[in-house]
Amino acid sequence: MKRYVILISGRGSNMESLLDAGLPGTCAAVISNRPDAAGLAAAAGRGIAGIAIDHRGFASREEFDAVLADEIERHAPDLVLLAGFMRILTDGFVRRFEGRLLNIHPSLLPAFPGVRTHAQALAAGVRLHGCSVHFVTPALDGGPIIAQAAVPVLADDDADSLARRVLAEEHVLYPRVARWFLEGRLQLADGRARLAGETAACGSLHAPQAD
Ligand code: GRF
Repeated sequence: MKRYVILISGRGSNMESLLDAGLPGTCAAVISNRPDAAGLAAAAGRGIAGIAIDHRGFASREEFDAVLADEIERHAPDLVLLAGFMRILTDGFVRRFEGRLLNIHPSLLPAFPGVRTHAQALAAGVRLHGCSVHFVTPALDGGPIIAQAAVPVLADDDADSLARRVLAEEHVLYPRVARWFLEGRLQLADGRARLAGETAACGSLHAPQAD
């Protein structure tokens, strides 16, 4: 059975969707950089003892990342899933887990990297918004895209309503991609995401009908 570790910082709804998906693997640990993350209680409710490593206790990003990486390695994961983990990771950390480190980002990358993506999408006037799962590389939100899901932007949307619709897609997309990886079908090769059994684009893009 393959093993995976999930990193969170807060609410943990993506973590819950991964834990509840019946993935073909064992969740070896849930680690948060915030001891008060609500997701830790949600993990405990599923029988997984969460681990908190408070980044505020470290003098530098490098020191925190080194301790975090050692803790992750202790669980010998095949796959590390960033699920609302709100820390910029050092290049050294990313290289250590390259090819087995995934992130979900709430926009159709490469549009709107960084934070406040829903407000950015509304300000830009795009008609489609969504989420992306990608391999993590040192470029912030810039690694090879694996799969995306799109939602329409509606005339009366605000950032909250748009975020809710995107989040519902995140909860479908991330477990799907994690399953591909754990089944051994997905890999990072020559700087691109490759999915065995797919002839065209790696992931899915689907746009539900607007009301
Ligand atoms: C999600 O929108 C995720 O894409 C982004 O941060 C949010 C985390 O939400 N990186 P949750 O903690 O998974 O509920």
